[in-house]
Amino acid sequence: MCGIVGFTGKKQAAPILLDGLSKLEYRGYDSAGIAVRNGDKQVEVVKAKGRLRVLAEKTNDGQSMIGSCGIGHTRWATHGEPSEENAHPHCSDDGNVTAVHNGIIENYQDLKDKLVKKGYQFYSSTDTEVAVKLIDYYYKKYEHTPVDALNHAMVRIRGSYALAVMFKEYPEEIFVARKDSPMIIGVQDGESYLASDVPAILKYARNVYYIGNMEIGHLKKGEVKFFNLDGDEIQKELVEIKWDAEAAEKAGFEHFMMKEIHEQPKAVLDTLHSVLKVDEKDNSKKLDLSQVGLSDKDIKGISQIHIIACGSAYHVGVVAQYVIEDLAKIPVRVELASEFRYRNPILDRDGLVIIVSQSGETADSLAALREAKAKGVRTLAIVNVVGSSIAREADNVFYTLAGPEIAVATTKAYSTQLIAAYCLAIQFAKVRGEIRSNQYTDLLTELESLPDKIQRLIDDKERIQWFAAKQVNAKDIFFIGRGIDYAISLEGSLKMKEISYIHSEAYAAGELKHGTISLIEDGTLVIGVLTQSDLYEKTVSNMVECKSRGAYLCALTSYGNYNIEDTADFTTYIPKTDVHFAASLAVVPLQLMGYYVSVSRGLDVDKPRNLAKSVTVE
Ligand code: F6R
Repeated sequence: MCGIVGFTGKKQAAPILLDGLSKLEYRGYDSAGIAVRNGDKQVEVVKAKGRLRVLAEKTNDGQSMIGSCGIGHTRWATHGEPSEENAHPHCSDDGNVTAVHNGIIENYQDLKDKLVKKGYQFYSSTDTEVAVKLIDYYYKKYEHTPVDALNHAMVRIRGSYALAVMFKEYPEEIFVARKDSPMIIGVQDGESYLASDVPAILKYARNVYYIGNMEIGHLKKGEVKFFNLDGDEIQKELVEIKWDAEAAEKAGFEHFMMKEIHEQPKAVLDTLHSVLKVDEKDNSKKLDLSQVGLSDKDIKGISQIHIIACGSAYHVGVVAQYVIEDLAKIPVRVELASEFRYRNPILDRDGLVIIVSQSGETADSLAALREAKAKGVRTLAIVNVVGSSIAREADNVFYTLAGPEIAVATTKAYSTQLIAAYCLAIQFAKVRGEIRSNQYTDLLTELESLPDKIQRLIDDKERIQWFAAKQVNAKDIFFIGRGIDYAISLEGSLKMKEISYIHSEAYAAGELKHGTISLIEDGTLVIGVLTQSDLYEKTVSNMVECKSRGAYLCALTSYGNYNIEDTADFTTYIPKTDVHFAASLAVVPLQLMGYYVSVSRGLDVDKPRNLAKSVTVE
């Protein structure tokens, strides 16, 4: 995720900016840059692709950049490849406005088109450059007042942002604005600091202001003022930060995995909003896959789909198989990349191969992609890391906007991959005439409600914690379900085993009696996933079969199915949703279960033994 640092004071700015950015490195980034002003001289901007040390080398650890006011940024690419050109800070054509930005501007294309008509030119592919030029436009229109310029830009920008801006006519001053993207400001010993995240300035200032949504901050040396959207000055309270540096990196959470579980509502919403647009003609919502590069003609011509991935990304594929086949009526086959690449697959020339990968670097998935391309089949990658090998080599890319994932066990990337798969399924169904307009609208409305429902599940985490604490000595755990519930079981089981080291298996509920049921003995934990109404009774019967052999039953089902409590020993509920989207909700208690069992066993949740975040070998 991108990081922002800013400073105005008596000391040289660049070394402080570099130091602050280094404290945000853990968040992941692909390029970095700083802009420094020396009094009222022209701003100096230095950027570098890759690691922060490249930027440090270019600037002699910041010493070569003279000036005591500046802003810095580490970029995690969302719009445009990682490159020096796309790295921040970005400047307006005449150097009037220089800014760094975190977040995603959803209507950047509309704004860009309007600015182009006003004569602005663009050198990068970023949404940030659009924001910079929009601010410049309003600054020039509204009597050179930064607060007014920012207010006008904020009203026009849709999406999320934390902006730190320097104006040529305001030397030694920095202006900030934010909506749904964090930003803090610290003041200490006559100097002012700003950052997108606490660790960046913890060393310099422990008393900070949290700038609120749709608010503006104006930093001078050791002095800060705040304004609301009307331009009126507002008062804010200084808050003392009590976290130590390590806790600050995890935003106060004990582990990255827990932090990332909590980031899911936002990651899901960001990913959805990257393709869900408002049709200005009739104000209706519709999916727009033009950025993914799929036209209606392409979609109509797809004869079959192969989804290929590894691990959790493969489990997304299993869900997607059910959803795409059910909604869009296109035959789907889902395969493990390590199997696909060596079995000389028979692929239809009019087929579509979808590769799902968080890192975009998984060796088997990359090899599968190359195999499909060699056979002349169109490839679409659902990838999180912009500019990764799979993203570069695939014909089309649907980027998930999960931000960097640090914990080895995936949570938020899995959740965003599901959203991408649902969007494809719904759009394919619509374009191929398999669903009516009202069903299309209902599905999109339901998709938009998922982030709040995920949040409710996270808010209820103590109930799972209580249950998980009692499972620390479990020897084997079985996850069973049918249809999408089987796909959910696969992910629940993987989450459990990879971080708790307890053997677990996911089984298609109806398949148990063909052998595996012999493993059920007194007290074996069986978790039944029951979100699919038409399969509910069937899976309950399979759970009863386990119970009569001594199993201890946990049920995961939707609110309303209260009769399950007659059968299960412990039940946890998820909010009601369209059956196609149940995985997005049911996975959350299962992630929490794996997490809490691991913590109760005193294990290293974020770095489980024998595992790597990115599997770049076969
Ligand atoms: C499990 C997990 C892995 C990955 C798999 C694929 O929690 O994270 O199973 O899903 O290694 O990785 P990517 O998505 O980077 O291709």
